[in-house]
Amino acid sequence: MASLLFLNILPLLVLAAPAAATAAGKCAAPLDVGSTVRVLHAFGPCSPFRSSTSASGGSSSWEDALIKELQASDASRLLFLSSLAAGRSSVPLAPGRQLLQIPNYVVRAKLGSPPQTMLVALDTSNDAAWFPCSGCLGCPASAAFSSSLSSTFRQLPCGAPQCSQAPNPTPCSSASDSASACGFNLTYGSAAIEAGLAQDSLALASDVVADYTFGCLQRVTGGGATLPPQGLLGLGRGSLSFLSQTNSLYSSTFSYCLPSFRSLNFSGSLRLGPVGQPKRIKTTPLLSNPRRPSLYYVNLIGIRVGGRTVSIPSSALTFDPATGAGTIVDSGTMFTRLVASAYAAVRDEFRRRMAKVAGAGNLTTLGGFDTCYDGPAAASASAVPTVTLMFSGMNVTLPSENVVIRSSSGSITCLAMAAAPDNVNSVVNVIANMQQQNHRLLFDVPSARIGIARELCTA
Ligand SMILES: *[C@@H]1O[C@H](CO)[C@@H](O)[C@H](O)[C@H]1NC(C)=O
Ligand SMILES: *[C@@H]1O[C@H](CO)[C@@H](O)[C@H](O)[C@H]1NC(C)=O
Ligand SMILES: *[C@@H]1O[C@H](CO)[C@@H](O)[C@H](O)[C@H]1NC(C)=O
Ligand SMILES: *[C@@H]1O[C@H](CO)[C@@H](O)[C@H](O)[C@H]1NC(C)=O
Repeated sequence: MASLLFLNILPLLVLAAPAAATAAGKCAAPLDVGSTVRVLHAFGPCSPFRSSTSASGGSSSWEDALIKELQASDASRLLFLSSLAAGRSSVPLAPGRQLLQIPNYVVRAKLGSPPQTMLVALDTSNDAAWFPCSGCLGCPASAAFSSSLSSTFRQLPCGAPQCSQAPNPTPCSSASDSASACGFNLTYGSAAIEAGLAQDSLALASDVVADYTFGCLQRVTGGGATLPPQGLLGLGRGSLSFLSQTNSLYSSTFSYCLPSFRSLNFSGSLRLGPVGQPKRIKTTPLLSNPRRPSLYYVNLIGIRVGGRTVSIPSSALTFDPATGAGTIVDSGTMFTRLVASAYAAVRDEFRRRMAKVAGAGNLTTLGGFDTCYDGPAAASASAVPTVTLMFSGMNVTLPSENVVIRSSSGSITCLAMAAAPDNVNSVVNVIANMQQQNHRLLFDVPSARIGIARELCTA
């Protein structure tokens, strides 16, 4: 199992490195306005996490480091998601392997009064919001929130109604003790976390949410490096989630546009609330797994490669709330994973078409990618067949930038998808962020729909 799950996706791929010198000026621009927050790549040039993840070799670019991080994190995230989908609370771990689950995109949040700026990871498959608090033992060595410097910070007591909604809360020690602090435990990746439940003012762009309830991390054991360094903003739908707490402000509606990780400008947007959302956008119904309401399930009914609808057994696509099987849209996985039989059908048709492209070169593999070409013609956009994801009521045709990943010289081009491991708790297809880049994804929970539209988001 381990060799399948931890397949190395991209050990050799070296992407073109644009000059980083111009990044600083762009990063300084204050672009969060109204209810729209700039989205940065966690390992991009504007991220403070970049230096800690860059490889030391002089020839390594930040993009190399990024790709290494991402390929390492995808396998563990798949485990995490499949365990969520199956309703399991803990994730099976491979011994001796450091699991990374840091979602790829971050936004700027301001916590407390006066506000302290934190770059928090976006995670559509998680409900939790937490921040490392000063004094935390084992938290990632990055900026922590100093609650003592905030005049609006307060710890919630064990008797508070929110405490019972936290995962594994410590119960009050007696009926008369409803005032001691609410503590709770959770696991994220390979980390066991102890946190206190707290409230403070949270600001995103121009919006301020008073008394926002979040976890203040106090102690992390077994894998602090696997946590988002400055906190997590879960965009799932469960109780205590950001969407639940801001429902009067944002009506459980948001959209994002994730920038291409190859773009130096590297910023997209998270637009909160119904105002300003695209009105004419193709949508598909949003499905709920009652045991895991935070995951965004959709009904993927078929896949077309080029003009042809490939033959996929319906069992590979059918939504089943009892097992968690189906298709989810996730912001934190890099490369789309399809159930093995679905992936094989897509791959075979992709190969059949590429075999007809003069100069595409020989079929080869690269790390965990099994469908790569070494000829120069494979790198041209016109050579690559489009892939159409057919959802109920909505077909989304992905252009080549969402279908293949190329090395810097263009000498190797790979189909940027892989088969999902089929021997874990639950088999889910994951529509991942490489396939979402430069599209706007609208999450409209009240109307139970997800919209997708092409949009260049390098703003
Ligand atoms: C949380 O974890 C700590 C340390 O492992 C433990 O002492 C405590 O009992 C746990 N609390 C709950 C509610 O599980
Ligand atoms: C970066 O932004 C500039 C404008 O600031 C634009 O002209 C350029 O095309 C963008 N580059 C990329 C790769 O998106
Ligand atoms: C592709 O395979 C053929 C036949 O094995 C070989 O002659 C050719 O050199 C290969 N091309 C490249 C670019 O490796
Ligand atoms: C999606 O494409 C399929 C196959 O071409 C077609 O039959 C179907 O009507 C399309 N669905 C929508 C919603 O356009």
